Amino acid sequence: MASSSPLSPILLSLFLVFICGVSAQTAPAPAPSGPLNFTGILDKNGQYTYFLQLLAQTQVGSQVQTQLKTTTEGFTVFAPTDNAFNNLKPGTVNNLDPQQKVQLVLYHVIPKYYSLNDLQFVSNPVRTQAGEDFGLNVTGLNNQVNVSSGVVETQINNALYQKKPLAIYQADKVLLPEEFFEAKSPAAAPSPATKKSSTGSKSNSRASATADEPASADNSGSTGRNMGLGFVVGLALACIGFLS
Ligand SMILES: *[C@@H]1O[C@H](CO)[C@@H](O)[C@H](O)[C@H]1NC(C)=O
Ligand SMILES: *[C@@H]1O[C@H](CO)[C@@H](O)[C@H](O)[C@H]1NC(C)=O
Ligand SMILES: *[C@@H]1O[C@H](CO)[C@@H](O)[C@H](O)[C@H]1NC(C)=O
Repeated sequence: MASSSPLSPILLSLFLVFICGVSAQTAPAPAPSGPLNFTGILDKNGQYTYFLQLLAQTQVGSQVQTQLKTTTEGFTVFAPTDNAFNNLKPGTVNNLDPQQKVQLVLYHVIPKYYSLNDLQFVSNPVRTQAGEDFGLNVTGLNNQVNVSSGVVETQINNALYQKKPLAIYQADKVLLPEEFFEAKSPAAAPSPATKKSSTGSKSNSRASATADEPASADNSGSTGRNMGLGFVVGLALACIGFLS
């Protein structure tokens, strides 16, 4: 009898069943754990680093979070992805003054809850949190919604969260307000005629990428077990075969 086999067939198949069970469970992720957390929803998603930085820097994130407790109308947020920010001309956001940064963020927040379906039928322009002059045009057809700032238009079709009082939709472009551009003619662009040598630009450039890398998914401290990677991969493959 082979007395030295480290894993009996029974143990092995138990292990296999365990792995299959674990991987099969990762499909439906129930969300309603704890109170509604605006930035937490974005944070979990992982592709909103820049927007989260702006929400923190301008304190709009905490304002929305606070108002969510009392609002009857709710909020709709168009959240630009990191890709959306990366596709901007370099400096677009960093060249904004602090007030404009606040306006930019507020421009992505509508002080009313709209489901994706509702959005198709709103009357334009839709007022944003940035104020009277900062409207968005929303057009919809056949469950497809376009949002336009006048200078930027993007399609909305992915809801990160959609339950009154909060709707968050993925925006593949940063909605730059027309108002930022129409005031200044291209020729008389704001040259570096800094009004006063203020200290204002000290810590404002923090919105640059400080993305901590979620990498380092290296060895999880394998002690000395000599079941090699090949063995695990083999099990995983068997598992996949087993599931399909
Ligand atoms: C919301 O989520 C963020 C990030 O995940 C976390 O830092 C924060 O403490 C949470 N806030 C609340 C009120 O749970
Ligand atoms: C949305 O925009 C796309 C192109 O950007 C266009 O093809 C489509 O017709 C627009 N849809 C609506 C509902 O305006
Ligand atoms: C919205 O549409 C109206 C009418 O087409 C237009 O006059 C206005 O400039 C648009 N506003 C934005 C923000 O796109």
